[in-house]
Amino acid sequence: MNSKDLILKHDNDDLPVAVRNTIADEAARVSKLFDNSDLRHVLIIGGAGYIGGALSSGLLERGMQVRVLDLLAYDHGAAISGFLMDQNYSFIRGDMGNKADLEDALDGITDVVILAGLVGDPITKKFPDEAHAINDLALKACIDNLNGRGLNKVIFVSTCSNYGLIEDNVLADENFELSPLSLYAKSKVQAEQYLLSLKGNTDFHPTILRFATAFGLAPRMRFDLTVNEFTREVATGNELVVYDAHTWRPYCHVRDFTRLIGRVLDFPVELVSFEVFNAGGDENNHTKQSIVDLILSRIPEAQVSYKANSSDPRNYRVDIEKVRRILHFVPAYSIADGIDEIVWAQRVGLLDEVEARINFYGNYALPGFAKTDSTQTPVLEVVS
Ligand SMILES: NC(=O)c1ccc[n+]([C@@H]2O[C@H](COP(=O)([O-])OP(=O)(O)OC[C@H]3O[C@@H](n4cnc5c(N)ncnc54)[C@H](O)[C@@H]3O)[C@@H](O)[C@H]2O)c1
Repeated sequence: MNSKDLILKHDNDDLPVAVRNTIADEAARVSKLFDNSDLRHVLIIGGAGYIGGALSSGLLERGMQVRVLDLLAYDHGAAISGFLMDQNYSFIRGDMGNKADLEDALDGITDVVILAGLVGDPITKKFPDEAHAINDLALKACIDNLNGRGLNKVIFVSTCSNYGLIEDNVLADENFELSPLSLYAKSKVQAEQYLLSLKGNTDFHPTILRFATAFGLAPRMRFDLTVNEFTREVATGNELVVYDAHTWRPYCHVRDFTRLIGRVLDFPVELVSFEVFNAGGDENNHTKQSIVDLILSRIPEAQVSYKANSSDPRNYRVDIEKVRRILHFVPAYSIADGIDEIVWAQRVGLLDEVEARINFYGNYALPGFAKTDSTQTPVLEVVS
């Protein structure tokens, strides 16, 4: 593989003609909303993180303007440096819960994607007060402040972790009972419920995407995620310790999430407004063992040991029929693709600094959080 394999191609051309026509009608509707401008100007809140970097790149590739509002909780500003020279990209350091920061960021924006938060069970368990401040209070303030501004679509990224622990032979669809186990997932469920409760009282159209666990290369890598972590451990020659190898999880490549968000932005509003979608793919429901087997098929000399009873009991598979039927979304990337990318990145030396800059590469501590009160610190604003 080489780096050209990492470029996301615009893929609406593969859709049936009738669907492409509805997308054209939707583009015309949105254009009317914004003074006959065809330009979409998307604010990605939390866009400096793992998924946000891949999304920024994918939306720019589609000819959209991108602005990122992010408080750089992990001191990971270097993740956006590659975008700053792009005239269609701008960055504001700030807090989604701070009205002034958000207002600044919303200037000229047509659509919003909310990715911001303390993400993952371990970081929210380690920093429960900060998690509450961000994932509950700041998020709610942000949602409230988005209303009444003439925005078009607002995509809230949630998680399949909301389903908790499910029997092995059951697939959770969007109506399956939510049983969040962690502080992280509990906040997501609360935020989903709040957003859905606003029906009839917002001037924007929200869509909730329950993401599977992400994998694949992006400007800010996270090696606290299973596929990425397992692959790097093995590719660096370390012994891989696998807990509860039989547990199922849905996975999805970061570039597929970008494709999906593109679909929500493109597709007719009546198909996505106040809708919830599981975001993944049947072929990417995997056990940890099947991920290890794929890694071993590439690196057979790997040292792997197995243990039972980790502190993370989550086990779930999700039904992705709705996203396939309504948004024609099927993942284009497999777990094997993600493994190959990370093995490649390790081999060509792109990941040499992981041990030295651990917070850049995973959600372990919050070195940037204390610096983020924008009333006390200068706000870095780079606007094209
Ligand atoms: N990565 C996954 O596997 C996965 C799976 C399911 C859902 N999700 C969801 O996708 C979204 C993005 O996840 P990610 O993996 O990119 O996480 P990430 O931790 O890499 O990114 C989150 C970003 O939010 C920023 N942020 C935190 N608080 C903020 C605030 N108050 N204002 C502005 N910015 C703030 C952080 O600085 C960071 O850049 C999250 O909402 C997460 O719950 C991710």
